[in-house]
Amino acid sequence: MRTFAIAASIAALALGLAGPASAQSPIIIKFSHVVATETPKGKAAEKFKELAEKYTAGKVKVEVYPNSTLYKDKEELEALQLGSVQMLAPSNSKFGPLGIREFEVFDLPYILPDLKTLRKVTDGPLGTRLLKLLDAKGITGLAYWDNGFKQMSANKKLVTPADYQGVKFRIQSSRVLQAQFKALSSLPQVMAFSEVYQALQTGVVDGQENTWSNIYTQKMHEVQKYITETNHGYIGYVVIVNKKFWDDLPADIRDQLTKAMKEATEFGNAQSQKENDDALAEIKKSGKSEIIKLTAEQSEAMRKAMEPVYKDAAGRIGQPLIDEFLKEAKSTTN
Ligand code: LMR
Repeated sequence: MRTFAIAASIAALALGLAGPASAQSPIIIKFSHVVATETPKGKAAEKFKELAEKYTAGKVKVEVYPNSTLYKDKEELEALQLGSVQMLAPSNSKFGPLGIREFEVFDLPYILPDLKTLRKVTDGPLGTRLLKLLDAKGITGLAYWDNGFKQMSANKKLVTPADYQGVKFRIQSSRVLQAQFKALSSLPQVMAFSEVYQALQTGVVDGQENTWSNIYTQKMHEVQKYITETNHGYIGYVVIVNKKFWDDLPADIRDQLTKAMKEATEFGNAQSQKENDDALAEIKKSGKSEIIKLTAEQSEAMRKAMEPVYKDAAGRIGQPLIDEFLKEAKSTTN
């Protein structure tokens, strides 16, 4: 009797391991990301976990792995496609290595005046169409999550476009971001987010661009003398899930998870601005970095210096996509 029970449980275990993740009980969703928990993405992921487990009455367990503890940028996308993790939220700038460059439209300098404008684009037809592009890669796009606007940091004062000449900047894996720094005669270098702090500390790179919340939670301000408040670009995320895992879920579970995702998205996007404002206040309070504000003329000079990026991007992602984005963005401000 006892032998039978052991044999049965071994068989069940083997089945569980061999079968699809969606057939396990509870269903485990491994959600890997690269930022700290105390960030817009980190908090939205925790909210999703809370709601997903509540709405499915424990049938789903969400394991959130923050701060690149499970995978770094490039690895996490590969792990998702292989089914080693089920859910991620990479920034729009990180889909290029998958062969999808269209999300880089969000990287164009000064394309978004504010988060309200962004929302119309992500919630509109273009946002939906971009998510559909992921299907061909075995990925389902579920939502857009905000972080916020990027600032420039370095160990030298960055005020005019000429100040950027020859400065080594860490960038995310986006061709638009590469073109942006080339337009400024800087030297861009693609690097995983988890390596930025050390690269700044040891001088492998001189500077980087990021949101206040990422700068603060990674302590970049402790190894950068200056941060220039440029708000020149945007960082936001696409929440993605392994398509086969998602499609194989029982329909009622998928519905509950969709509801949890919708509410976690509303929660996260409603507080992203505050997260960044609070991080800025903390950085100021620390006194570790000098924060440089630009005049309207200086901002305009930066915008002009980065203008060639649009032409460069059109060659890769297409002018129609850029035009459509600008049209949807404009329609919101009227
Ligand atoms: C970065 O790599 O700088 C950011 O995309 C990190 C993140 O996920 O916010």
